[in-house]
Amino acid sequence: MTKVITYGTYDLFHYGHKALLERAKALGDYLIVGVTGDDFDKNRGKINVHQSLMERIENVRRTGIADEIIVEEYEGQKIDDIKRLGADIFTVGSDWEGKFDYLNDYCKVVYLPRTEGVSSSQLRSEIQKIKTGFIGDEDLCKKHMKEASYVNGLVLSDERDFNSILKTCDAVYISSHAKLRYEMVKSALEAGLHVVCESPFALNEADAKELIALAKERNLVLIDAIKTAYSTAYNRMLLLLKTGEIGRVMNVDAVCTSLHDLQDGRTEGKQGSLFAWGATALLPVLQILGTNYEDCGITSFFSDTDTGFDLFTKLDFTYGNASATVKVGKGVKSEGSLVVSGTKGYVYVPAPWWKTDYFEVRKENAEENRRFFYRLDGEGIRYMFVNFVNSIENKKLSYVDDEVSVRISKIFERFESRKNVRIIK
Ligand code: CTP
Repeated sequence: MTKVITYGTYDLFHYGHKALLERAKALGDYLIVGVTGDDFDKNRGKINVHQSLMERIENVRRTGIADEIIVEEYEGQKIDDIKRLGADIFTVGSDWEGKFDYLNDYCKVVYLPRTEGVSSSQLRSEIQKIKTGFIGDEDLCKKHMKEASYVNGLVLSDERDFNSILKTCDAVYISSHAKLRYEMVKSALEAGLHVVCESPFALNEADAKELIALAKERNLVLIDAIKTAYSTAYNRMLLLLKTGEIGRVMNVDAVCTSLHDLQDGRTEGKQGSLFAWGATALLPVLQILGTNYEDCGITSFFSDTDTGFDLFTKLDFTYGNASATVKVGKGVKSEGSLVVSGTKGYVYVPAPWWKTDYFEVRKENAEENRRFFYRLDGEGIRYMFVNFVNSIENKKLSYVDDEVSVRISKIFERFESRKNVRIIK
């Protein structure tokens, strides 16, 4: 019996896939089809495959051509599979010509002609065409446009004027000054646009709730542009904490600082520490310990010449059975790490933790320490836009709960009112 093995993503199954499977089957007597897992595809740069792994497996199963279906999850797995399953022939379409010659050491490699005129990418781009405008901070817009360009289904608009964006686009990314965001998000939602906005999108609890309700009422997506929320390492860390790996979480310490903005010594027109870093640094505290803290003390140090610019702000949270500190600085430099302390060990995410691909679990007995690495493309921004597109399609929900968004706004409200805020000049 001749065993043939082939691999693919099989997203939005089309006649090119079917023809390939038929030709592959005709090469032997038994066909094994490897369907690429979601994470593995992400690593290959296919970042917004439309269908889930289960749906894609079902696509292949329904053809009745495959005798066996497996999932491809890691680099180098093809060699393992060929040896383990005793495949005689490895085959893929001619678009991969030459790429798998290294498998000749294990079995015969055959490149089959590819069907012209159809591909999953093309079908994906026909399904979703969300015209997106970018407005606000120029550097942030540039960076976000670059990352969004990798995402199928988003069409970038060149429009730079907000009113024109409202008239011509389906969605908008907003990175204007925090004080302008509420009005802009509201106008965008009222004009029927989906919104991804730097956090917080409102500077008080009531406004945040109002915008969330408005988005829901209009069936529009409104998400916080906190890129860290979309990084794989960060998400895996959150899941790991839930397994009890470090016992009960007792404390979270998150630090974010940067000095580059103050190099010319001027603060006018610039965002202070909490505005620049607050949302990012608050994210792990609110996601790990929840939004129901008992108390939040704020201590801020302001510049002598500009009472609107906090050089450094520290937030102390008390929960019923845990605590947290958040330190953000644009006039003070510190180690930008994240430490989550538990009763059996701690998680250490080295600086800059907000754009990391790596974290460690550390125990009293160092032999039990574990390190975790995950690929991170575009600081998480790319994945954020993938999630944005998927949310618009009602397929996946945002990684930042509304409750977290509202809490962030509430903390900013406290800070802005300077009530119960210790100010040290
Ligand atoms: N294939 C083919 N003819 C096509 C499209 C795909 O023969 N028109 C083959 C590929 O060469 C591969 C298999 O089908 O052996 C699975 O391909 P996959 O990457 O899942 O499909 P694509 O349509 O190429 O997907 P994408 O556009 O995302 O690259």
